[in-house]
Order: sequence, then structure tokens, then C-alpha cells
Amino acid sequence: MFPNVRMRRLRNHHLMRNMVAEFELKPSNLILPMFVKEDLAEGEKNPISAMPGVFQHSISSLVKEAREVRDLGIPAIILFGIPSKKDHHGSEAYNPEGIIPRAVRAIKKELGDSLLVACDVCLCEYTDHGHCAPIEGDRILNDEALDLYSKAALEYVRAGADIIAPSDMMDGRVAHIRQALDHDGHKDTIIMAYAVKYASSFYGPFREAAESGFAEGPKDRKAHQMDPANLSQAFREVELDILEGADIVMVKPALPYLDIIKGISDTFDSPLAAYQVSGEYSMIIAASENGWLDKESAMMESLLAIRRAGATMILTYFAKEAAKVIDRRVVKR
Ligand code: PBG
Repeated sequence: MFPNVRMRRLRNHHLMRNMVAEFELKPSNLILPMFVKEDLAEGEKNPISAMPGVFQHSISSLVKEAREVRDLGIPAIILFGIPSKKDHHGSEAYNPEGIIPRAVRAIKKELGDSLLVACDVCLCEYTDHGHCAPIEGDRILNDEALDLYSKAALEYVRAGADIIAPSDMMDGRVAHIRQALDHDGHKDTIIMAYAVKYASSFYGPFREAAESGFAEGPKDRKAHQMDPANLSQAFREVELDILEGADIVMVKPALPYLDIIKGISDTFDSPLAAYQVSGEYSMIIAASENGWLDKESAMMESLLAIRRAGATMILTYFAKEAAKVIDRRVVKR
């Protein structure tokens, strides 16, 4: 005779469900990506049509929202800049008076140490052709880009950035940036490397948010971002970035790549970030606006799945909403 085995005994009551829950999402696991645009009037913010609820901010509007983020217990934001002028070498990315250094100084002046500021380092928002590095015809110039990333990283750190996040996927950039930061005395600045970044269609809405469509050269980033048909290179990418000095490694996108997150977290000890990208956000919003799924539960379920796969922290456009839901649940209990 079998004993009366019933899994549902552990599921019937919400307090019992909570008691046996193995994974939890906390505001301290979240990082909010934010966009700041040059030439917007003070206080102004532009809605991004492909990402309802996300905005391109002026500096003052950015600072205001950063304060809300801090007050929700979210420890960090990551900044993307949209310059007023673009050129072949993306020089506004490393202009000491460019949009990102000015935004970082403004946030740090208001919020000081109470919020960590990460800066995405890439050229694609700053080049007139829309690529992450200088190009020659259809060729992406890997080595020519490294000095430019280091220059940008230095300007962001001098302005007060706590974390540098290279997202370009050029080879050797983590070591190059680490060396540049160390030489300038910024030995404690954290590098969060976009180590495993797939050439993904889920970045679609980001092109509108960051105004980074392709005007010249190849029409995709397949020559340097990872192929979705490949798993083993992800381990090599992470290994290399850790050897080059990355403190935190990232997998991106998140939900279509949970196997990668799981594999990396089982194999490496470094803190692991996962980026729930623009397309993952917009899919949930669009379906919920059509009444096809419930936004709040789909949001929480997807974030919990990313945690369960092994991500220490999650970059997500849902950060504020998720923190509010978590807060409410704690109060209700
Ligand atoms: C590159 C960068 C991209 C994203 C973050 N950093 C675009 C790309 O690599 O094509 C995408 C983020 C998102 O889709 O939310 N600077």
C-alpha cells in the first residue's frame, strides 16, 4: 500500500506556499535601465511608443525618477545616453561634457551614495552609422574601438559612476577598460561585463528608446554578438571576461536564454546579472494591453524564473513596478 502522498498539502494555503518557497525576488536584486536624452527641456520626458511606461528623460526628470527608484529600495540604475549629435567615431560617448557625465554628476549631487549608478559603455547610440564600434564598409573595427570605450568609461567614472558596463561585445574590451581605470586610480570601480550577449531580435524596441538604428554598414550585429544556435561559446565568453577583470558577468536577453543563465551560474562563482531586455518587456505589456494576460503576474513570474535559473541580479524595465508589488505583498502578509 502506498501512503497517502499528496503534493497539494504544501500548496493549499498561501502561508504554506510562502513557507516552502525556495526562491524570492527582492528589490535589492533589481537594476532599472534608464534613458537620458540631450536637448530635452528641463523637466521634460518623451514617452517611448514601443515601451509603454518607459521614457527618454531630461536630466532633471532623470534625477527625479532616480530618487523614486532609490526610495523603492532598488540599489542601482544603468544609464543609456542619447546625444544631440552623432559622428563616425561616436565622440559624444567620451565627451567629458557629454550627456552621460552630466547626468551622472546631477544624480550623484542629489543622491550621493544612496544609489549606485552604472553606465552602459558602447558607441551605438553615438555613431552616425549606428554600430557599436567604428566601421569600414561592412567591417566592424574591433581594435580601434577599445581606446574609445576606455575613454568613455574614464569620463563616466570621473563624473561619479560606480559601475562600468561594457555592452559592445568587442574582444578584449574588459581588460582594456580595467587597465585604463586602474591607471587613473579607479581600482575599486566595478566592471559589469555584458559577457554573453546574443544577436537577438528582442532588442527591437531599444532601437527606438536609444535612437540607435543602422544607417550604414551591416544591418545586424551578428559579426560580434553571439549566435542563438551556440551554447559553448557562452562559457568561453564568461571565462575570458572574468580573466580580464570583470566583477559581474551578464547574460542577455534573459527569458529565451534561461538555460544559459543556469549553466553559467552552476559553473562560475562570479555574481551573475541577467538583462530582461526591451522586447521581453514590450511583449508582456502588449499582451496585457490586449487583455491576453495579466501584466503583474506575468511580470513577477518571468522575474522569478530568471532568479530561479540562477541570476543574482536582474536588469529590468519592470524594476519599479516589481519593487512595488513586492512591497505590497510583504505588507499583506
Ligand atoms: C548596446 C545595447 C543594446 C542593448 C543594451 N545595450 C542594443 C544592442 O546591443 O543591440 C539592448 C537593451 C534592450 O533591448 O533592452 N549599447
